[in-house]
Order: sequence, then structure tokens, then C-alpha cells
Amino acid sequence: MSNLLSNIEMPYSYSLLEKLASESIEINPFTYVNSGAGGELTLRANENAFENWSIVPTVLNDVSARDSAVTVLGTVFPSAFGLAPVGVQGIFHSEGELASARAAASLGVPYIASTLSTFSLEEIAKVSGDSPKWFQLYWSKDIEITLSMVDRAEAAGYSAIVITVDTALLGNRERDLNNNYSPFMLGKGSANYLHDPVFQSRLATATHKDESATIKKIIDIMFTPSLSWDDLRTIKSHTSLPILIKGILHEDDARKALHYGVDGIIVSNHGGRQLDGCIASLEALPNVADAIQGEIPILMDSGIRRGADVIKAKALGATAVLIGRPYIYGLAIAGEKGVSHVLNSLNKDIDISLALTGKTSMEMVNRSILRRN
Ligand SMILES: Cc1cc2nc3c(=O)[nH]c(=O)nc-3n(C[C@H](O)[C@H](O)[C@H](O)COP(=O)(O)O)c2cc1C
Repeated sequence: MSNLLSNIEMPYSYSLLEKLASESIEINPFTYVNSGAGGELTLRANENAFENWSIVPTVLNDVSARDSAVTVLGTVFPSAFGLAPVGVQGIFHSEGELASARAAASLGVPYIASTLSTFSLEEIAKVSGDSPKWFQLYWSKDIEITLSMVDRAEAAGYSAIVITVDTALLGNRERDLNNNYSPFMLGKGSANYLHDPVFQSRLATATHKDESATIKKIIDIMFTPSLSWDDLRTIKSHTSLPILIKGILHEDDARKALHYGVDGIIVSNHGGRQLDGCIASLEALPNVADAIQGEIPILMDSGIRRGADVIKAKALGATAVLIGRPYIYGLAIAGEKGVSHVLNSLNKDIDISLALTGKTSMEMVNRSILRRN
């Protein structure tokens, strides 16, 4: 990765990044990204879980030449991390997903575009160019719309579909409820629906004529509580793109994913935004990795904040990791430059952590370097 650090004043520690973001945008959008579900036990557990494990480095290994790249389903992750799908980025910065996707593309970091983006998947693909990108699907209640989005993603150059399965319903996010704030009620995150030919055909009136009816329709069909494993067959027979399932925590589900021919899984609790009180992602990872036995790649997110976190996740069985809030704070502070700063500093921290662990490649990182505290 080339170094694109600009001379903007950006903090390096996560807590300062969070603080500066809180001072850069309105309280409602800040709370939306910052908060978790319920009492935020899981939000806190995600970060605290990294304290339960310590790296035991080895020394005198000649770490002068290092490579932290990994490859997942043909997609190169130059520094073992990618950008998690985050919707409604237009509430954090006017350039929203376009700024994040540009910053990712300039470093070759894979970008996962959310169904609930503020810009359409085609607009995001355009600024992303040839850089790696996957499309995250919220399976719509209207299957024709679901399949249409998959077709559009394939046509626009996305190379995998990530189906998020931990969102049968939206989590109970108390701090957003206290603020009486929902970006979706304000019509944010609707671009992929508004640009969809099947969705357009479902509207009785032209979208610009009855905005509130359109918003209601989108919210009505956004998530599918009835979704079950057998439904995956519909997507698998519809597209040749690899399918990843995001939101696996239980090892039984990991085995089911193998049974249903899923191409990869993402161990995630949605950054503590869905079921409060559920297991931290890092704590779920070892059992999932044992169940998968290396048959398909495992990605992990929720709580990754710095280089040593990436090393720990890798050691516990993740092929690569994703970050959510850190890059959104960069976006909120300084748009594309802010995201670039976050990606560059994480990249550097991963490289330093790899070297100081005593390894020269991510493939060399395994459970032998970790001790449970
Ligand atoms: C503001 C916000 C919006 C999100 N939107 C989506 C989304 O549209 N689709 C999805 O699968 N996950 C979404 N997520 C979850 C992330 O993909 C990811 O799982 C989570 O942010 C990782 O945790 P971290 O923020 O601790 O890194 C969102 C997370 C945040 C903070």
C-alpha cells in the first residue's frame, strides 16, 4: 500500500478519533454510528474481548521484509483488512460512500457496499474503478428486488455477495430511540431501491410525487424475518458470484454454512448493534474456526481498532478482518482524507504489529502466538 497521508490534523488513537468525530457532526448521526443495541454490553464486549488474549512474540527472526496481504476468494486484501458494509454514510459526510470507496480504492483496500447506501451501487462502483469491491445484500421481502440487486451488483463489477443474516429485524438501539432518530424514516439509505427497475415498477406513483409512501414501502420490504437456510439456494442458483454470510456466531451455523455450500462466512455481531448480550465476535471466532476446519475463508469484524487486534483475530482463525466505526469516524471528520488517514494508520500499525510479533507474513500467524489471559 502506498502512503497517502495528507497533512490534515488527524488523531491516531481510536478514542481521540471518536471524540473528534463527535465534535464534527450533529449529535443524532454521531449517536447512530457510536451506539449499540440495548445496554451496549456486546458493544463493549467486542473491544474488551481483545484484552482476554495476549500475543507472545518471538525474537531474532529477521523481519526486515514483511507482507501483510491475504487473499480471500480471489480478492487481495493488501493489509488483511477491508471496509465493512456501513449504510447511510451520507448522514456523516455529504460525499458519503463515494468518499469511503475512493479512499479504499486509492489503497486497494476491498470495499463492501451496503444495500442501504446513500449512493447507488453503480455510483459507488464507478468511483471505485478496478479496486476490489463486494456487495452486501439485505434480503428484501420482495424476492424480485433481491435478485435484481444481485444482478446489478454483478453487472457493476462487484466480485462477491455478502448476505447479512443477523438483521431479521433492526436491533433495539436505545440511544437512537431516545433521540427519536432513524435515518431510514428520513429517506436516507434508499438509493439502491430508487435506482432499481423492479422497485420502480412496484411503485404505484412516481417516486418524486409521494416521498413518504416510497419511504414507507422501502422500510416495509427492507428486512425479511422469514429468511431461512433453504432460501440461500435461490441466490446460489441465480448468480455465479461467491456468496458470503455475514453474522455467524454459533459453530452449528458455521457447519450449516458449509452444508449449504456458502463460499465464506463473516463472524460478526454487527458491531453490537443487533442482539445486545450476545457473544463478542472475537470470543465466537475459535469455535467457528474449529467447525470450518479451513474449508472456506472466515472473515471477522466487531471491535477491530488497531494492528494487534488484527494479529489476534488472524491467530484465532480469521483469514481477514473488517472495520466499521473507525473509518466512519474518519469520514465524519474529514471525508475521503479522513478515511485515508484511518486506513493508512491501521495499515502501518498492522505492519509494525506483525514485525514485533516476530513474523513476516500473515500466513505465519497462528494460535501458537497467543495465550488466553
Ligand atoms: C453506522 C453503521 C451502519 C452499519 N450498516 C450496516 C449495513 O448496512 N449492513 C451490514 O451488513 N452491516 C452494517 N453495519 C455493521 C458493520 O458492517 C460491521 O459489522 C460493524 O460496524 C463492525 O464493528 P465495528 O464498528 O466495531 O468495527 C453498520 C455499522 C455501523 C456502525
